[in-house]
Amino acid sequence: MATLRLGDIAPDFEAETTMGEIKFHEWLGDSWGVLFSHPADFTPVCTTELGAVANYYPEFVKRNTKVIALSIDGLESHLEWIKDIEEVQNVTLQYPIIADESKTVANLYDMIHPNANETLTVRSVFIIGPDKKIKLILTYPASTGRNFDEILRVIDSLQLTADYKVATPANWKDGDDVVISTSIPDHDIPAKFPKGYQQIKPYLRMTPQPNK
Ligand code: BEZ
Repeated sequence: MATLRLGDIAPDFEAETTMGEIKFHEWLGDSWGVLFSHPADFTPVCTTELGAVANYYPEFVKRNTKVIALSIDGLESHLEWIKDIEEVQNVTLQYPIIADESKTVANLYDMIHPNANETLTVRSVFIIGPDKKIKLILTYPASTGRNFDEILRVIDSLQLTADYKVATPANWKDGDDVVISTSIPDHDIPAKFPKGYQQIKPYLRMTPQPNK
């Protein structure tokens, strides 16, 4: 299996989930997607993570982004565990969890890192664009729960930079100034970025976020 890289087409698959059988690409439709794996059901950090994503669900919807979780536990286990997540986090899980007992999807997406754990999936995150291409890959160890504010922040950046010739600087968050692409010559900036700009260096030109 070749390693997945940014820009690759996210592998398609069919899988059993807590919300029925899905064909991944068909399920994604024209939306953005977040596919994230967790090591195992009925584990503490995973319980907080899946609850956090349920609490943030409206934020993903606002960004036209579908979320789907995965572990190599079975459907019955997932359905039992969801009851705990909902109780502990006071939420209703609105998104599916893939029951990947065969490890088909885990292997397709290289989610098992044998030197970390021979059988369990690590905490992978894939952000996938409406073109089905992989836009971001993150890998966290089992002992570190993910920061879903960061996932939303990256989606904001990806969606902004898909539409405008800008990039987002360190620690940027939605609403902050952005970097004008170096492919835009100075003389084109006023027409393209009418809110004005500040030249800090010839290659570092900042402008207010254009879609705000
Ligand atoms: C957890 O979710 O708490 C966890 C899962 C697998 C290994 C370590 C921690």
